[in-house]
Amino acid sequence: MRISIVGSGYVGLVAGACLAKLGSEVTLIDTDSERVEVVNNGLSPIHEDGLNEILGQVHVRATTDYRQIVDADMIFLCVGTPIDEDGSMSLEHIIRATEQIVTAMEGGKGYHVIVVKSTVIPGTTEGVIIPILERTGRKAGRDFGVCMSPEFLREGKAVYDFMNPMRLIVGEFDKRSGDALLDLYRNFNMPVLRTNLRTAEMIKVASNAFLTMKVSFINEIGNICKQLSIDTYEVAKGMAFDDRIGSKFLDAGIGFGGSCLPKDLRALIVKARQMGYEPGILEEILHSNEKQALKPLQLLKKHISLEGARIGLLGLAFKPETDDVRDSRAIWIVQALLQEGAVVKAYDPLAVANFKKLFPQIDYVAVEEVLNCDAILIITEWEEFKDLDYTGKIVIDGRRIPKAREARIYEGACW
Ligand code: UDX
Repeated sequence: MRISIVGSGYVGLVAGACLAKLGSEVTLIDTDSERVEVVNNGLSPIHEDGLNEILGQVHVRATTDYRQIVDADMIFLCVGTPIDEDGSMSLEHIIRATEQIVTAMEGGKGYHVIVVKSTVIPGTTEGVIIPILERTGRKAGRDFGVCMSPEFLREGKAVYDFMNPMRLIVGEFDKRSGDALLDLYRNFNMPVLRTNLRTAEMIKVASNAFLTMKVSFINEIGNICKQLSIDTYEVAKGMAFDDRIGSKFLDAGIGFGGSCLPKDLRALIVKARQMGYEPGILEEILHSNEKQALKPLQLLKKHISLEGARIGLLGLAFKPETDDVRDSRAIWIVQALLQEGAVVKAYDPLAVANFKKLFPQIDYVAVEEVLNCDAILIITEWEEFKDLDYTGKIVIDGRRIPKAREARIYEGACW
């Protein structure tokens, strides 16, 4: 099958590389010409486990020219949907990309299925994307097909997740489009749900919101446990024997970050409010996640004064195995430390370059120098932090690193 993918971020690149590996003819379209060049050289412009290997093996053509979609059987829309100042989802990129698709489609007469993969607020495909696609008089379901099929990829594990999907959600405008998308996934083994467009959109944002609820829930239990000298991790282990609860996403700590979970949660809250509904549970998840990020500072202040103190940070990425710092807990912590007059020294195996763009004023140092600071905060659970020598130090652990307990003074975030 010939597939054009518009947008070469995490979702677009990974989907493109994996589909090419599985035998499709893939063209990636992106407005960023540097990115396009990197892909055409067989390399990945982002750090993602296994992606470079695949891009080295298969031929994925990248271009800035939308006209290349003319021959595609399927066009995947994978552009980013960041949030605006007010927290609502910005449709700027997706609208521009859809308009470009319309212009390019005018040149051809073939039938394409347009598949929305970007995370969007329910109603967007029907209310925004289809009307743009129909501007030239072509009709959805007759002249072209439309599906909304969200991706649930985790950063750092995106290739694995694409190749081993837990589910396929096919939101279809018309049956022919849904059939075509199912045909593309025919060699995968996973549960499939065929539904309408807005339900597919909601499945994605509701799934992300549910995951944030699990994290904030266990953090709340953890905050109570800490006061009662109870180990939250043992509590979560005991809870997990009940398969209605399960064991995943119950690691207490300093909260969730990343490019998707906080943003999608915020956008869902704003959408609900716009409709006149106060989503109390969702609002509280966001609020408690913000408070949780600053928990290490509260704990640290019990032991030292921050003014002029050298505070070492272990980890800047929002989670291990990625260089992504979007909505990382480290951002909240560094901001607060600087406000309190602390001297911040930070180490991360991958994310320093990205963090430096946000905070050029702090010191980026080797791990040994972090260990020599007046106190150490563990922000990201990188594997290499599990074997460091913490003896004699003051450590506030946001991510449960067992060896850190050897510190002279040790405080866990919620244990
Ligand atoms: C997430 C979803 O998992 C994925 O399905 C969706 O497509 C995109 O958003 P990702 O952003 O890669 O993926 O991050 P994830 O691995 O889910 O972790 C998110 C954050 O939650 C991290 O900051 C992590 O440290 C935190 N987290 C996760 C916890 O604090 N405790 C947990 O038990 C799990």
